[in-house]
Amino acid sequence: MTRLVVLGRSLLARLHRASAPPPSRIMEAALAGLSPAVLATLCHLDVPDRVTAPVRVADLAGVLDVDPDRLERLLRFAHVHGWLRLDREGQVRPTRVTAFLRRDHPGGWRAWAVFAAQPEVTRALGALTAALPEDGDAFHAANRQPFFPWMASHPDAGARFDEAMAAGARLHGLLLARALDWSDRRRICDVGGGDGTLLATLVAHHPHLDATVLELPEVVARTPDRPGIAAIAGDAFDAIPTGFDTYLLVNVVHDWDDRDVQRLLERVAAAARASAATTAAVRVVVVESRAHPRPVEEIALSADTLMLALTPGGRERTVDEVAAIGRAAGLSCRRWLTLASGDVAMVLEPAAGARSDGPRRN
Ligand SMILES: C[S@@+](CC[C@H](N)C(=O)[O-])C[C@H]1O[C@@H](n2cnc3c(N)ncnc32)[C@H](O)[C@@H]1O
Repeated sequence: MTRLVVLGRSLLARLHRASAPPPSRIMEAALAGLSPAVLATLCHLDVPDRVTAPVRVADLAGVLDVDPDRLERLLRFAHVHGWLRLDREGQVRPTRVTAFLRRDHPGGWRAWAVFAAQPEVTRALGALTAALPEDGDAFHAANRQPFFPWMASHPDAGARFDEAMAAGARLHGLLLARALDWSDRRRICDVGGGDGTLLATLVAHHPHLDATVLELPEVVARTPDRPGIAAIAGDAFDAIPTGFDTYLLVNVVHDWDDRDVQRLLERVAAAARASAATTAAVRVVVVESRAHPRPVEEIALSADTLMLALTPGGRERTVDEVAAIGRAAGLSCRRWLTLASGDVAMVLEPAAGARSDGPRRN
């Protein structure tokens, strides 16, 4: 179903674009960067929070203490994008999107609107050319440090990044809670699990689970404690804790190049094999956007370009590509399923006859 909706929307978008002459298409693309700027500005002004019922532009401008005419120009832009609506009487009205942009919306998607317009992100996008050499890193070129070390030395920005990740994590927690059978699972380790939102969501649906996040020390330090979720501060490339029957890697694989993904999965495979001595059959669940051999207009395509700008070698991959790296790391893909988000959940297990010693260090 999700696939059909994506394909239908992609087709409509192609028709929409094909109906415009080339100069219009170039101008539309050249000015597309205004969208995150306007969206973030409206969020910073708390416009979505204030538009819970129809309100006159002049009254809204009065509450926000801004110029009504200038505000209306942003609202007109927002109207065309459906983030809110301007009616013929000059009132601003909420749409379904407005609700999702509010601070108190449980989905937390406002954080993505804020994160995508942050200066470190826009600087990296502006330096995209630097991503093109084989070992290029646009984020590093633009911000003088690679992404995760930069976030470590800028804790406020790091917390905003964690918050944006938490929106997807909450959704994936809900989807995984329903899509997989957790009844025989006991101990879960979420590798690179951010602020623990995914595990908290999963445990809310399956309270018998004992849940632990493995995260970088700075992320653990800036994350408030969550009742019932343990946190281990560490580097997943150094060691993965043992004693778990399920290892999750959600939107983690796409941060790294193939060589690093193999190194990471080798460590996961080693931990899974060591855990198998004391627990039920161990499984490794990798959740990623799904790239396609031919480009399809969907979020995975934008996510891939974002990975090109923010990481030294991260990318979205096809299911076969992830499975091949997993195989090289000693994990075989038992099955995979498409989640309602359009992302793919792959269930891997330590390959029979795989080495039982620790992984090699590259
Ligand atoms: C793209 S985020 C995904 C977060 C979370 N899994 C989610 O889906 O929202 C990648 C996460 O990996 C963590 N990470 C990066 N390098 C790591 C490392 N060497 N060891 C452990 N975690 C790491 C980051 O701090 C970040 O939270």
